[in-house]
Amino acid sequence: MTEAQHHRTLHDHVVVVTGAGSGIGRATAVAMAEAGARVLGVGRRESALKETAAIRPGIAVLAADVCAPEAPETIIATAVDRWGRLDVLVNNAGATARVSLDDLTRARVTDLFDLNVVAPTMLAQAALPHLRRSRGSIINISSTYGHRPQPGAAHYAASKAALEQLTRTWAVELAGDGIRVNSVAPGPTESEALGVSGLTREQVVEVKREQASTIPLGRRGEPEDVASWIVRFAEPAASWLTGQVLTVDGGLELV
Ligand SMILES: NC(=O)c1ccc[n+]([C@@H]2O[C@H](COP(=O)([O-])OP(=O)(O)OC[C@H]3O[C@@H](n4cnc5c(N)ncnc54)[C@H](OP(=O)(O)O)[C@@H]3O)[C@@H](O)[C@H]2O)c1
Repeated sequence: MTEAQHHRTLHDHVVVVTGAGSGIGRATAVAMAEAGARVLGVGRRESALKETAAIRPGIAVLAADVCAPEAPETIIATAVDRWGRLDVLVNNAGATARVSLDDLTRARVTDLFDLNVVAPTMLAQAALPHLRRSRGSIINISSTYGHRPQPGAAHYAASKAALEQLTRTWAVELAGDGIRVNSVAPGPTESEALGVSGLTREQVVEVKREQASTIPLGRRGEPEDVASWIVRFAEPAASWLTGQVLTVDGGLELV
């Protein structure tokens, strides 16, 4: 192994990252590629994905809606057809919904669970035979609010709690196959998420200010603050780590 390869801890690994066109997913695709992986970045907007791919070599893209019935098989097959294997699935595509119980509709709840819970499940299922072969890993992106209440976004919090429990349960179910399953749970992090959550621009500014003042380390996160821990979970050095939820939130969950 050359000196350069020594630092490329994911040399020759094949990684699928959903939601790679912005925020945490984009930073993760880039960090995985920097670690030597070949990355398939997935999202609905091809233009956003192309911007991610332009940041550094090693990132291919596929425009797809992860909630479409045939998407999980197509996404996994695209990575495997291209590179012959799959080592890591990062279930990052997700959304928040800031809406009170008064104002909820059935469609809002089912759409949220479809994206945050059902799609990661079907992607994990499609990836399974390939992860068995590579003794690979799944990393589900949860949230601080997957394990603490979030008034006004109860179903978002509940969807992330579901993802954390899938993480722990799959970790045990799949351990015999050598497949590790972990979660990274970010706190408030710069991304497009708040902008598409249903808040006005003024409300977004106010929420960000309030979040920064509540976080013990005094600021919202940058996508790279989170991405580096997602990469750590994927690395061979983490080969005895499974079923864990790592909160990366500047200390927010403690207060
Ligand atoms: N930022 C935070 O404060 C924070 C905190 C805790 C947890 N998280 C979690 O971190 C993950 C990443 O979010 P982010 O903050 O980086 O937000 P973001 O910038 O909104 O990224 C979400 C990405 O998912 C993609 N996406 C959404 N729906 C999709 C679908 N149906 N099919 C395929 N791709 C889809 C979006 O791209 P397209 O629109 O092009 O599809 C977008 O690039 C999410 O799971 C989120 O819940 C974020």
